[in-house]
Amino acid sequence: MNTSKLRAWSAFATVAAALLTPPASAQRLERSGSEVVSSTCAACHVKGEQGAPRIGDELAWAKRTSQGLTALTENALKGIRNMPAHGGNASLSDIEIERAITYMVNHSGGHWIEPLRESTPAAVRSSEQIVQTQCAKCHQDGLNGAPKIGDRAAWAPRLKIGLDKLVKSAVHGHGAMPARGGVTDLSDFEIQSAVVYMFNYGIAALPTEPRAAPAASTPNHQLIDGTEIYLGVVPVEALSASQRQGKVPSGKGYYHVNISLFDAKTKFAITDAQVKVKVADPIGLETKTLEVISANNTISFGGYFRMSGLNPYTITAQIQRPGTARLIEAKFDYQPR
Ligand code: HEC
Ligand code: HEC
Repeated sequence: MNTSKLRAWSAFATVAAALLTPPASAQRLERSGSEVVSSTCAACHVKGEQGAPRIGDELAWAKRTSQGLTALTENALKGIRNMPAHGGNASLSDIEIERAITYMVNHSGGHWIEPLRESTPAAVRSSEQIVQTQCAKCHQDGLNGAPKIGDRAAWAPRLKIGLDKLVKSAVHGHGAMPARGGVTDLSDFEIQSAVVYMFNYGIAALPTEPRAAPAASTPNHQLIDGTEIYLGVVPVEALSASQRQGKVPSGKGYYHVNISLFDAKTKFAITDAQVKVKVADPIGLETKTLEVISANNTISFGGYFRMSGLNPYTITAQIQRPGTARLIEAKFDYQPR
């Protein structure tokens, strides 16, 4: 071995030793994904007992992996329906469960990287945080043809296939673009918000019209905790072709409820919030988490709700912005015509 190889090898050996040395409190070595699966998970996940996603069944796993590793691990640790907590083996650590999941995912069409060390599962990260710490490594300078952050001309043709498909493409990776941008535990939602951020970066996208009216007297606008909230309600029949996104319901009395969010300070569209909407009249209540929609060069949140023309409605938007603990709640009165 020459010296540089030797140096590399000894650095590797040091890291490997550190990884393999259990902390003083641990009684044993951590098991690998394949060991955990064969000793514990295989009992149900090989044949698909009681509805367990079968190892090798790409479709069954694809549906679940969209949550990202952190959420999947949480469900496997707590148990979900017929899936027992910790797969029924309480001695398994969080990281061993993560590795086992990664192993099953990778044998079912996935390309996740087996986690090496104990990670603290983060709360939903903000799009800015994700982009600046990870995606920027390549997307800042356009390394290997990566579309640059804020370069709308480069992003627009890619967005033509639809935001969902673009997110899928980033999840699977191709060419020099690594799966999930190289971060195994990013959820699809976080990847989506990172993509939208890169598309929107540097563009002030405040709608000009509602801004012109004095904020307080516009019934469909509220300013809460530095967040500008705009409500739009349109009967499904009146939606333009480009606005018809997601699964458009057929039948009478459906409305598209749209929430646009802007940061009051920066004036940028907020695209990485989670928005839940409650539509209530004196008789009933419907609650939905809104989907991200892209139309007319802006990003907003939308969902379909059924309303009769008989009653006044209260539309309540609950908005969770990453990095802020407090839930923002905006109530609007609405009377369908
Ligand atoms: C006793 C049977 C059984 C064993 C053992 C078992 N599982 Fe499961 N697992 C299930 C079933 C059933 C489901 C489907 C639950 C559902 O979604 O209804 C499931 C679902 C899952 C999911 C998907 C969770 C989600 O959010 O969709 C993961 C991840 C998982 N198992 C991981 C594991 C791991 C890791 C092990 C081994 C440590 C394991 N399971 C052992 C029965 C089992
Ligand atoms: C190691 C470099 C690298 C990192 C890190 C990276 N990307 Fe990429 N990305 C690329 C390259 C190169 C392309 C262009 C690939 C091509 O079109 O062949 C690309 C393309 C994309 C595309 C367009 C895919 C398509 O089908 O057109 C999306 C979306 C994307 N990246 C999202 C992300 C996100 C989100 C992150 C951060 C979580 C990220 N990338 C991190 C290198 C990277």
